[in-house]
Amino acid sequence: MNEGFHLIEHPLLQHKLITLRDKNTNTKDFRSCVAEITTILAYEATRALPVCERSVETPFANMQAPDMEPGSLAAVVLLRAGLGMADGVQTLAPFVKIGHIGIYKDKETGLPVQYYSKMPTDISRRHVLLLEPMLATGETADHAIRMLENYRCPAISLITIVSVQRGIDLVLSRHPYVNIYAAAVDDKINENGYIVPGLGDIGDRMFGTK
Ligand code: URA
Repeated sequence: MNEGFHLIEHPLLQHKLITLRDKNTNTKDFRSCVAEITTILAYEATRALPVCERSVETPFANMQAPDMEPGSLAAVVLLRAGLGMADGVQTLAPFVKIGHIGIYKDKETGLPVQYYSKMPTDISRRHVLLLEPMLATGETADHAIRMLENYRCPAISLITIVSVQRGIDLVLSRHPYVNIYAAAVDDKINENGYIVPGLGDIGDRMFGTK
């Protein structure tokens, strides 16, 4: 496995993941599990956030204690499937600022095209969690990371639920300083671009569009 790739194998996470894989899981439970898995992955991905010391008054004494550096975290949602992950990050860090990137694949060229972007104004000072639930070819994540590189953020972590080795290799070969956090590495990508065994079209299952 590549350095920079972190497979998180907590039993509770695996229970939520098998619920996502089950084709009989309803939309409500599916959405909840996407958010809960994201909370666990984001917890792992935020271990290296900067910490500062500040004073606090307990019921018994004043003390200096470590605290997370204010204003150091942002999440960036890759539309549309990443939307369901934002809740999970907000549960962990309600103060997080959230950006959005929209990318589609051009039918003729097969290349990713960006159609939307809105970032927090101070994104260049923040550690970014890029939310892309299915890391298949990695082309979309690569495009989003390139765009984030323009802001010179101090760190970028890609949070993904199901990945395949091809996508991991593509992202880490082009962006060796990025960390990827995933709940699973599946076997392959089928002819329609879906991960197999995977969990289907995550956007459709999350939003009930099919
Ligand atoms: N996007 C999905 O929704 N599912 C996959 O398996 C791959 C990409």
